Amino acid sequence: MSLKPSQISVPFPKPTFPNMHTKITIEPFRIKVVEQIRLTTDEERQQYLRDAAYNPFLLKSNQVIIDLLTDSGTSAMSAEQWAGIMRGDESYAGAVSWQRMEKAVHDLTGCPYILPTHQGRAAEHLLYSRLGGPGKVFISNTHFDTTRANIEFSGATALDIPIPEARDMALEHPFKGNMDVDKLQALIRQHGPETIGAVILTVTNNSGGGQPVSMANARAVSEICKREGVLFILDACRIAENAYFIKQREQGYESHTYREIAQEMFRLADGCIMSAKKDALVNMGGFLALKNLDLAIKCRTVLIITEGYATYGGLSGRDMEAIAIGLEEVFDADYLHYRIRSTTYLGEKLRAIGVPLIWPIGGHAVYIDAKAFYPHIPVAQFPGQALVCQLYLKAGIRSCEIGSVMFGKNDENGNLIPAPMELVRLAIPRRVYTQSHIDYVVEAFRELMDERERVQGLRIVYEPPFLRHFTSRFEPA
Ligand code: F0G
Repeated sequence: MSLKPSQISVPFPKPTFPNMHTKITIEPFRIKVVEQIRLTTDEERQQYLRDAAYNPFLLKSNQVIIDLLTDSGTSAMSAEQWAGIMRGDESYAGAVSWQRMEKAVHDLTGCPYILPTHQGRAAEHLLYSRLGGPGKVFISNTHFDTTRANIEFSGATALDIPIPEARDMALEHPFKGNMDVDKLQALIRQHGPETIGAVILTVTNNSGGGQPVSMANARAVSEICKREGVLFILDACRIAENAYFIKQREQGYESHTYREIAQEMFRLADGCIMSAKKDALVNMGGFLALKNLDLAIKCRTVLIITEGYATYGGLSGRDMEAIAIGLEEVFDADYLHYRIRSTTYLGEKLRAIGVPLIWPIGGHAVYIDAKAFYPHIPVAQFPGQALVCQLYLKAGIRSCEIGSVMFGKNDENGNLIPAPMELVRLAIPRRVYTQSHIDYVVEAFRELMDERERVQGLRIVYEPPFLRHFTSRFEPA
């Protein structure tokens, strides 16, 4: 399908902020504790990358200078969160820390039944193992890979229906994370509502470039699900970042607080899954929150068997304290402005020097189009993996390939069936790096731009049967 940008591009306003008196967005925190970064040499990095078989997942973290592998579990916690950790109540049942976390999640999501888990995918397992099974179909704007894996592991099918605009990497659109609601309606009719396990809206849409979902889209999805009697679940791990974009770009939300926007979105759904390792600003944790008691009881049984008792799941009391506090802090207007602006800052700088990337910039990461960056490297030689390796060799920056290494499959003759896009994700940990760290990343790209023609692709010399990006081994092609 070819789209004419002029027909569908929707201009959106630039953010304005009353609290910001200068053009520079500063980090709205000062640094109390520091963690040493070991600055490696070019020679050391060549050795480390060879030892890691050209797969940065196999590097040791002290071999990395700037770690942009993920924004998950990599946040710096606040002094308040560390203070909360000292208050952690480690009682097996009914801990005070659980009461605090339960209240924080309840106040935010409106869900009465809350199940704590050690991270997001554990919550996915609780829910999708109960809702899934052979013959069941799940529909999402885009399933994150652990979501898809949990659904497929149960024997069910996972279908992605992002809006068509999302497939045009350069198209300016305010809510490229939206779900295609016409397709949703058609799919429910085609399969029958009774076969639909759930409709899952991922906010922001991580696998689609960290792009936001509008309230109007969430409302349309909710209305269809209600009418058809289908369960509607939010994958809410970046809900605060999504709320930022709604306030900035969607009419009618200018004077809402970010928290009110998130609460409104939660009201539309029947429940949510959250990896607290993102917008709850903690290093470990998650939860499943539901409005239906019967479903909650079913999931709670799996919780107690696989994670832990109902009032701690897989978490320590101290983790639950930190989550309760993080869920408050993340909606702070100055924090969210800094957060989204600092991701956009990196994206804008890279775009200005000609790096091809997904536009507009999403909430938590910048996604580089590696196929356009290295047009001479065939997809079967993994241009994304080549870029990930070059970034590491050049500057010790660790990033993540989201292309045919991660999502490609082999046909029966061993030929690659490529992923739809060859991307490299630069995910920004929350409250961790300063502007000069980000300027250093831009400088590394400037040099990589000049050396593009000389870079070779890679070939896989070992791959495991599942989730091959984590442990595959490569050599230069
Ligand atoms: N849903 C989304 C949208 C995610 O991005 C993730 C994790 C999960 C669910 C699973 O949560 O890791 O706590 O089990 N995303 C990380 C990433 C791993 O790097 O994007 P988890």
